Amino acid sequence: MTSEFIIEIKNVSKHYERKIALSSLSFSIKKGEIVALIGPSGAGKSTLLNIIATVVKPDEGNLLIDGEPSAQFTDGKKLAKKIGIIRQQFDLVGQLPVIHNVLAGRLADWGFFKSLLSLVFPQEKQVAANSLQRVGLLDKMYEQTANLSGGEQQRVAMARLLTQKPEIILADEPVASLDPARAEDILSILTNLAREEHQTLITTLHSVEYAKKYFTRMIALKDGEIFFDLPTAEVSEHHLQSLYELKEQA
Ligand SMILES: Nc1ncnc2c1ncn2[C@@H]1O[C@H](COP(=O)(O)OP(=O)(O)O)[C@@H](O)[C@H]1O
Ligand SMILES: [Mg+2]
Repeated sequence: MTSEFIIEIKNVSKHYERKIALSSLSFSIKKGEIVALIGPSGAGKSTLLNIIATVVKPDEGNLLIDGEPSAQFTDGKKLAKKIGIIRQQFDLVGQLPVIHNVLAGRLADWGFFKSLLSLVFPQEKQVAANSLQRVGLLDKMYEQTANLSGGEQQRVAMARLLTQKPEIILADEPVASLDPARAEDILSILTNLAREEHQTLITTLHSVEYAKKYFTRMIALKDGEIFFDLPTAEVSEHHLQSLYELKEQA
């Protein structure tokens, strides 16, 4: 199905017991947009990302992925072709060599049996090599993943995404555990790869500075609502100050 928007969110709400995490949000994202989701801690960024990932169900409202209701993405393979996820904790198997973690991006294509076999005989080695080369880690292909630094492990996670080739990449605080130089390195690779592959990227970020530098659109959440949604060039210091300012004490 084709639609101008790859993600459409209409009146989505989510609460946890009495706490409102998201309050009737609506927005759309076009194919190929590079979006930073910012806002204070507890604003609802992760909840929103998990709803788009179809991991969390909204209480109300609709989510369309490439024009199709998200409820139609119950099949894991179909979902993996659309959406790939990068987490702060990388989700890598530390005891396995790098190549196996990269090829895990093929799980959706291969099915379980071939994936298990690949644990013994790495298949499509060239695919893994190409992905690793693009993130600058070709020389680490057979190293045990746990022995790599945090920044290198995050690159392995990106190489895995390159083999998965989803249309949408969702990343929740992908650089929160990295030092500033590594963080910039990873964000620059991530946004460049997404642009080259014409993928849509949505990343939650703590750092407004990184959001400004690498992303073209900023959606700011505060208390479960959209506080602003602007092209990065139009985001002012005033917007950011009021986004992060603490509530007046009563
Ligand atoms: N699984 C959960 N159970 C209860 N409350 C939750 C859960 N997940 C998130 N919340 C609450 O929902 C609100 C939004 O959380 P979250 O989406 O994690 O915000 P952010 O990622 O912007 O920091 C917070 O008040 C948080 O405490
Ligand atoms: Mg969060």
